Amino acid sequence: MTFDATVNPITYEGGEPVFIDTEADTWNMSPEALRVAFELYPDVKLIVVVHLYGTPGKIDEIRKIADEHGALIVEDAAESLGATYKDKQTGTFGDYAVVSFNGNKIITGSSGGMFLCSERADADKIRKWSTQSREAAPWYQHEELGYNYRMSNIIAGVVRGQIPHLEEHIEAKKRIYERYKSGLSDLPITMNPFDSSNSVPNYWLSCALIDEDAMASMVRGEQDYLWNHETSKSSPQEILDALATFNTEGRPIWKPMHLQPIYRSHAFVTVNGNGRGQSNAYISGTMTDIGADIFRRGLCLPSDNRMTAEQQDVIIDIIRRCFK
Ligand SMILES: Cc1ncc(COP(=O)(O)O)c(C=O)c1O
Repeated sequence: MTFDATVNPITYEGGEPVFIDTEADTWNMSPEALRVAFELYPDVKLIVVVHLYGTPGKIDEIRKIADEHGALIVEDAAESLGATYKDKQTGTFGDYAVVSFNGNKIITGSSGGMFLCSERADADKIRKWSTQSREAAPWYQHEELGYNYRMSNIIAGVVRGQIPHLEEHIEAKKRIYERYKSGLSDLPITMNPFDSSNSVPNYWLSCALIDEDAMASMVRGEQDYLWNHETSKSSPQEILDALATFNTEGRPIWKPMHLQPIYRSHAFVTVNGNGRGQSNAYISGTMTDIGADIFRRGLCLPSDNRMTAEQQDVIIDIIRRCFK
């Protein structure tokens, strides 16, 4: 369960992604399903792991599995800048890691991002590839394929100007999360979870998950949906429509990659529902995997730092009315 930018680079490079189910504790990669995936695909040499919505995943367990199988980790910390796991920042656990400064992130330069690595030689190589692979010759000399992935100095300036405000942004996001948590506490809703004994999220996006027995009927096609109002119940699409009526933007949970038309013929490994092993939730028509279930019952709440407490109270009231 992630945004497809986590996966596309695997395909750019001719790789074949095998999708791993989500776990319920942090909504990130399930180490248990990952372990089963290595039984099925022992030759895989790369794990791409994301910290969704700014919540650190179970990175120690994933690192242990990676080391047992001699696999490298690319850590997608695009959404989690400033979040920590066992007091270490996300983006420092992978062999390589990325952070995004896209317009919607906790620190933004409107677009762009950071690639993180620990070896000087890797940094030099990546800097070279990202600037069309120019060799150190007096003329434009090209001996390997290059890319235009460099960051402009203007964006770098905007990003550097915001870095000193990271903690402040995290505090604001945390206040938003806590306000939703207490404001929605008497509804059949839980907030996106995190492992409070090991991690501190950056609270980038506040999300809600509707209890199964409070789910009103809702169906989704590929690009459209239908919902019914039912007393004391609601659904993500009903709430999102209600918010939109008040010119307020929420979002569905990121639709898992194994359910996406572009990727759903790929292998998907879950340990939930049908027992251990491989399943394709879309083809079998089951909704037993955890990612699909969170997509069905969850939604991203408006989480902009500029939202006032009064505006957030209106949002909470709109959600409350959906459950009447
Ligand atoms: C989880 C995740 N990975 C990768 C990206 C891609 O980052 P960028 O837009 O900077 O390419 C994003 C968001 O944009 C994201 O949310």
